Amino acid sequence: MAKILMVFGSTTGNTESIAHLIEKKLTNKGHEVNVLNAADAKPENLAQGYDAVLMGCSAWGEEEVEMQDDFATFFEGIDSMDLKGKKVAAFASGDREYPHFCGAVDVIVAKAEELGATIIADGLKLEGDGTSDDADIETFANDVMKAL
Ligand SMILES: Cc1cc2nc3c(=O)[nH]c(=O)nc-3n(C[C@H](O)[C@H](O)[C@H](O)COP(=O)(O)O)c2cc1C
Repeated sequence: MAKILMVFGSTTGNTESIAHLIEKKLTNKGHEVNVLNAADAKPENLAQGYDAVLMGCSAWGEEEVEMQDDFATFFEGIDSMDLKGKKVAAFASGDREYPHFCGAVDVIVAKAEELGATIIADGLKLEGDGTSDDADIETFANDVMKAL
């Protein structure tokens, strides 16, 4: 059984919903998942003691990627999270009408790599709250579990 940290930032609840759908897939297979809203999370040494870290964040920019507000604040301290050598993956809800669909996923992945993390699954990018995308969520969760 692995211990997994999930941190999400979500304004209208879509990324939060996806977080809980992923959580369910992981807990169904016996893993322990701690889901934190970025609004309530402090990044300092947060990743310590976890086998994997999953981060979810929606995007709110127009031409440029703007991270969801709570996650943006959390992200300012991501250097102190202790991601070096950690297994990491990212997910988001977004809207394909925007130039950077789920753009925060790519920002999180790039930063995690820069901090020495290993990316263990392709970023999960979905429209809406994830309830119509069970197959994609299953693939993401399986990729994460294969790497544990
Ligand atoms: C002003 C504005 C900017 C947005 N920018 C983006 C964007 O750059 N990329 C994207 O995929 N979605 C964008 N969206 C859509 C939201 O990210 C989308 O509704 C998402 O499901 C919200 O997720 P949340 O409820 O977890 O915050 C934008 C929406 C608004 C209103």
